Amino acid sequence: MRIGILGSGLMGAKLGTLFARAGHEVVFSYARTREKPRRLAREAGGKARAGTPSEAAQSADALLLAVHWSRVDDVLKQAGDVSGKVIVTCSLPMNAANTELVVGHTSSGAETLAKKVPKSQVVCAFNTVPSEVLFGVYAARRRALRPSLVYCGDDPRGKTTAALLIRDVGFEPLDAGPLRMARYTEPFALLFAQLAYEGKGGPELAYRFERFAE
Ligand SMILES: NC(=O)c1ccc[n+]([C@@H]2O[C@H](COP(=O)([O-])OP(=O)(O)OC[C@H]3O[C@@H](n4cnc5c(N)ncnc54)[C@H](OP(=O)(O)O)[C@@H]3O)[C@@H](O)[C@H]2O)c1
Repeated sequence: MRIGILGSGLMGAKLGTLFARAGHEVVFSYARTREKPRRLAREAGGKARAGTPSEAAQSADALLLAVHWSRVDDVLKQAGDVSGKVIVTCSLPMNAANTELVVGHTSSGAETLAKKVPKSQVVCAFNTVPSEVLFGVYAARRRALRPSLVYCGDDPRGKTTAALLIRDVGFEPLDAGPLRMARYTEPFALLFAQLAYEGKGGPELAYRFERFAE
């Protein structure tokens, strides 16, 4: 697949690198310096390159949106026409201080995004794990038991694409249903961040849902 990375920070850099390692054509874009996406592309190897958000979007089969909530409008403006594109968003609708969600209960960041890009297929994924665990999960991808990763969306094609990318990174995709389920996955992401960053043992934390039937 051709994947455009919109936001080459902690999440975009790592996920883009892992998508490239999994064999996808990746375009890193949107950072404060032009050098950063270039460096990421060099380091990722494979079929990775750097570009503008518009170049990242142009030929992409899927886009990863990985910017702070306050930058969403700007990066979408720079990306241009994203009609028909699958947009996998890991962006959480956080305030400037990153202390609380600014959208919730009756909507979610993912649904708010979907309204901004009504001709795109938005899937909410990768927002429930810290960036620090991603390379470790990828390294452990051949183990029998994979960590779970919840995702949600309204478009079947978008969800199939997201599930494939989730698997490529080393998680077991867990379909949580329609995009409105982001109202629950986004607060869950904050619980998870609390456990990862404030709990014991460090942020290299993932989760796994299991059933225990009698
Ligand atoms: N980090 C996590 O573990 C994690 C986990 C789950 C969800 N999330 C969510 O995922 C999203 C991305 O998080 P992140 O931690 O990857 O964020 P980040 O490290 O701050 O990355 C954001 C990217 O946007 C770029 N950027 C910021 N302001 C810009 C500007 N004015 N012009 C051009 N580029 C600009 C940054 O450039 P520079 O690279 O130059 O700084 C960076 O590449 C957020 O919505 C966050 O809530 C993060």
